[in-house]
Amino acid sequence: MKKGLFINGQWQMTEEYMEVQAPYSKEVVAQFAMATEDDVQHAIESAHAAESEMAALTAFQRAEILEQLSVLFIENRDEAASIISLESAKPLKYAYAEIDRTIETYKFAAEEAKRLSGEMIPMDASKSGEGRFGYTIREPLGVIAAITPFNFPQNLVAHKVGPALAAGNTIVLKPATQTALSAHFLANLLAQTNLPKGAFNLVTGQGKLIGDAFLAHPKVKMITFTGSPAVGISLRNRAGLKKVTLELGSNAGVIVDEGVQLDQIMDRIVMGAFSNQGQVCISLQRIYVKENIMNEFLEQLKAKVERLTIGDPLDATTDLAMMISETEQQRAITWIEEAVAEGAQVLTGGRIENNILLPTVLLNVSSTSRVSCEEIFAPVVIVNTVSSVEEAIDAVNDSNYGLQAGIFTPSIETAFKASKKLQVGGVIINDVPTYRVDQMPYGGVKESGTGREGIKYAVEEMTEMKLVIWNNN
Ligand code: SIN
Repeated sequence: MKKGLFINGQWQMTEEYMEVQAPYSKEVVAQFAMATEDDVQHAIESAHAAESEMAALTAFQRAEILEQLSVLFIENRDEAASIISLESAKPLKYAYAEIDRTIETYKFAAEEAKRLSGEMIPMDASKSGEGRFGYTIREPLGVIAAITPFNFPQNLVAHKVGPALAAGNTIVLKPATQTALSAHFLANLLAQTNLPKGAFNLVTGQGKLIGDAFLAHPKVKMITFTGSPAVGISLRNRAGLKKVTLELGSNAGVIVDEGVQLDQIMDRIVMGAFSNQGQVCISLQRIYVKENIMNEFLEQLKAKVERLTIGDPLDATTDLAMMISETEQQRAITWIEEAVAEGAQVLTGGRIENNILLPTVLLNVSSTSRVSCEEIFAPVVIVNTVSSVEEAIDAVNDSNYGLQAGIFTPSIETAFKASKKLQVGGVIINDVPTYRVDQMPYGGVKESGTGREGIKYAVEEMTEMKLVIWNNN
């Protein structure tokens, strides 16, 4: 049951371990190594030692490694999905969907490895550039440190490991301890590919100790982090000249305009708000509905939400299961109770049954209640009426976050206006903000982060541009 650290292509043990239990069944998942500062140094130095071998691989060889990894995930799809479901309580159907995305993410990374290129600079556009020939190339940074959350333990890791390797970097991964079994699974798959020893390292343990060790080591050239704004901002403030990509949270909103066929959007609304128990950075948290369609909207929404199958995450029919922990469920209940004390009404849910927070819809919520203005990361959605799309856009923008927003409207003009005015990294027209495929640029403005993921864009972040000029005079 003891799970060690993966350093320089080998599993190694350490002094202390932390037991992780499955959130729902409480069965012991494993005991994970608590890396010491020396262990983290060793992992970074192994990654550094592998830098030149990794950078010397051809694009074809890097692509081949990522293709091998993608095929290994296809061959081990059932086990990979069951691990996610066990360790994080993600309903099995969503765990399979995550593995299918992971397979595609590594395929996109393999393709991007072959596309890494620069551009020709028109030197003679300037008088003093005459007779010179210039072009850019992109070079790997070296060691990249990645810190990943529990909510997508394979695919959000793939969004860091895939582009890092595609670009010829080496990596040290620190996954959330609760979902570290998925990271172990990945390490074992990578060990079956042609990846050079030391190019991928895995450390588990205390987040602050490991994060501080990443920040302190001069050989770490970039930190890529997905998680809470507080931790992300602190990393960035202390990173000095290291590159930092932050994918933080949000309280994503959608606008529902009149003229929309409500029965055709309701499945997407329910999926957007409740998939993975709302523990998704772009989970639909705020819905703004034109007042004249509100009654019909609520009637349809309530009926759909109350038909969700709630229970054991490992049951293939389950739509919604327990959150990542009882503590997190209690936090969500506190926020719901606060909102009700501040004037909100509960349309459905709002309580815990059989150790599962029921899918919850709140109405008429104050914009200053925490369920509205902070990221709840729970199966809770608020619905408020608006008298115009303009009012709804202002309400969506009235947020410290800005990751993605959605608008359902039959009007092209309204859609264009919203896409211009919404202050977010991505506007999704005629769908929920929760929509994501893995090749698209993904990232936020305001406290939702800096930089973009999506393989092509992450590869740009994970490389340095070099200019070459030939003087032919
Ligand atoms: C996230 O929670 O940031 C990722 C959402 C997704 O990949 O669908």
